[in-house]
Amino acid sequence: MATINEILSLKKERRATILAHNYQIAEVQDVADLVGDSLELSRAAARLDCDVIIFCGVDFMAETAAILSPQKTVVLPARGACCPMAHMITPEQLCDLKSLHPEAAVVCYVNSTAEIKAESDVCCTSANGVEVVASLSEDEVIFVPDRNLAAYVARHTKKKIIPWDGYCYVHDRLTAQDVTTARALHPEAEVLVHPECSPQVIDLADFVYSTAGMGRHANSSSASEFIIGTEIGMIHRLKKENPSKEFYPLSENAICQNMKKTDLDLVLRALQTLEPRVSVPEQIAVRARRSIERMLAVKV
Ligand code: 13P
Ligand code: SF4
Repeated sequence: MATINEILSLKKERRATILAHNYQIAEVQDVADLVGDSLELSRAAARLDCDVIIFCGVDFMAETAAILSPQKTVVLPARGACCPMAHMITPEQLCDLKSLHPEAAVVCYVNSTAEIKAESDVCCTSANGVEVVASLSEDEVIFVPDRNLAAYVARHTKKKIIPWDGYCYVHDRLTAQDVTTARALHPEAEVLVHPECSPQVIDLADFVYSTAGMGRHANSSSASEFIIGTEIGMIHRLKKENPSKEFYPLSENAICQNMKKTDLDLVLRALQTLEPRVSVPEQIAVRARRSIERMLAVKV
């Protein structure tokens, strides 16, 4: 409690806003000003009126905030909290792919480095990948780095999607057998899965959503039980917003180690020291910003 009070008073003093991704631990979600998916948090970072953003999430999210708000101090409380998928493609590999497909537009999932965003035409998140691809005039689209989100988008477009072979280890290891087992245990439950899951898991799901989409669906559905195919941090928010409904993780092993690195002590230290700070060199940021802003202009 002492830590929470210190965080709240220091937050005011610093004119700071605490943003937390849906996968953060419960205590961190509860102290945040806004808990959301990647798209909601990017939108917030672009419009916030504050001096400091404490970004409880992973590296690419804090980088996106720093790109959109270069005048603000952006702090990632857990040093080195990264998304392994974002590092599965290098700018050199993307440039090689672009030279193989010179007519193709390049869409990069926001789970990517600033350098990859700078080399892309437009970003997307799991909430708007289909709409972003539909907004392009090109018929061929290079889609990096997530092969599973690429395959999901490919189901919803006639365009040729050229995927990169990256993946999220948390979602990719969820299996069709996990779905079958969970359905047998909870036959009345609706199955909601994230588009980072494999096509085999998506085939067996009732609905496919970003984490924010899962939240909206659970709030409005008449069902009272849900099997949740994403990182288990999501369950906290779903239960909090829907205390009369039941939520079961598709797998207890769906844990993103990097998302779990942030705790209240680190949030407090981040507010005290304004470190570890995240910034992006302006020559990269200017090109990455164009890709992110182009995404933010797409209506979902
Ligand atoms: P969303 O919150 O955008 O659905 O993304 C999930 C994710 O894995 C972020 O790292
Ligand atoms: Fe990256 Fe997957 Fe963790 Fe999201 S859940 S940050 S995609 S490793």
